[in-house]
Amino acid sequence: MLSEKKITIAVDGYSSCGKSTLAKALAGSLGYLFIDSGAMYRGVTLYCMRSGLIENGVLQKEAIENALNEIELHFEYNPETDISELILNGENVEHQIRMPNVAANVSKVAAIKSVRHKLVEEQRKIGANGGIVMDGRDIGSVVFPNAELKLFVTAAPEIRAQRRKDELESKGVQITLDEVIANLMERDLIDSTREESPLIQVEDAIVIDTSYLTREEQLKQALELVNQVTLQN
Ligand code: DC
Repeated sequence: MLSEKKITIAVDGYSSCGKSTLAKALAGSLGYLFIDSGAMYRGVTLYCMRSGLIENGVLQKEAIENALNEIELHFEYNPETDISELILNGENVEHQIRMPNVAANVSKVAAIKSVRHKLVEEQRKIGANGGIVMDGRDIGSVVFPNAELKLFVTAAPEIRAQRRKDELESKGVQITLDEVIANLMERDLIDSTREESPLIQVEDAIVIDTSYLTREEQLKQALELVNQVTLQN
């Protein structure tokens, strides 16, 4: 039986491993808030692209740092999509932030120290009362180092690429598997080698490999872990 105590659950891993799907299902089962922290990095990236601070993959780092106080991000729950959608300066940008042009630039933006400081601070505020499942790259290591449960989600590379391709195609974007693989590899490299809070698997994280598990099986594993943790706390 699950206890009443609302814990904090950090879900980290590489792009397209199924982190968000699992985190969202987990939050839904527990009645917790689900936050996709990657959406916030994507929101900052979209703002910079629209403002001409990123052109042809080249970032004007100093100008981006100066523009951060012009960016207001929050999430609004949409019952029709069952998603907390990202609002950037009053505009719902949930669709635009998922496009390949944003994906192509987001890891470079996420490597900027002041961008991370701003977003980590906002993420901590959102999760201040527990009862949250947040997915990202540095949730267990930096944002919520005291999270009661930390999951590290992995999946085989070819499965990640196919999932990403299917996701984009469902949004009307035509892309080849090779293009998807190139973007995933580039992002993996930048995310795990950047100086500021790189993606790492922290010691107290529990690995869930989603490659050959159905969504139901992944959720069952995660719920069992939640149950163990809540019984201990
Ligand atoms: O999870 P995602 O693919 O939507 O994340 C987009 C990018 O944002 C990803 O390349 C790395 C970065 N990111 C990050 O650095 N830290 C997080 N907590 C979440 C995402």
